[in-house]
Amino acid sequence: MAKKVAVLVGSLRKESITRKYAQAIAKMLPPSLEAELVELDMPLYNQDLDDANTPAEAWTAFRNKLKAADAVLFLTPEYNRTISGALKNAIDVGSRPWGQSVWDGKPAAVVSQSPGAQGGFGANHNTRQAVVFLNVPVMPAPELYIGGSPNYLGEDGDINNEQTKELIGKFVAAFEKWVEANAKK
Ligand code: FNR
Repeated sequence: MAKKVAVLVGSLRKESITRKYAQAIAKMLPPSLEAELVELDMPLYNQDLDDANTPAEAWTAFRNKLKAADAVLFLTPEYNRTISGALKNAIDVGSRPWGQSVWDGKPAAVVSQSPGAQGGFGANHNTRQAVVFLNVPVMPAPELYIGGSPNYLGEDGDINNEQTKELIGKFVAAFEKWVEANAKK
């Protein structure tokens, strides 16, 4: 049976390039991996609500989606050399209540994109830093930083550049192996 991959979209805006890559990469996953795009528009984490057992509905929906996933693919933009508030909030929401983290032991990989030349390097590594603490085995290599990101998306939403397609192809092939080796049985 195919393994479920939660594909997290680290930007909230309608025309997000991150979402466009999430959609394009989801289509490129092998049949053994079934993608579900997960949007991160939810209230900021506030422990008071968990302590009172009244979590925001959007937190519960997010946590349930992540619990049902076998693996996670983080797609992140870069905000001021780090990750967006939306993505950090999602990592925090999923990590609580204490002892009920949705992340624990779930294999993952990170893709960063930016119109700039560095491809969101800072955001990519800050995502890794946060989730390693949560016991997420993050695929170390190949890495995927997509610089000049608007240039490689065609009108149809697919990748329009052979070199980029090849890079993503290698990345998803390695991710398939990473999930197979690390997913909970
Ligand atoms: C940015 N952007 C940006 N780009 C970058 O390469 N490094 C950075 O540090 C930042 N910082 C930054 C901060 C904030 C608050 C915004 C809104 C934007 C530009 C960013 O990469 C660009 O807007 C992307 O298109 C954002 O991704 P989405 O929303 O298109 O998915």
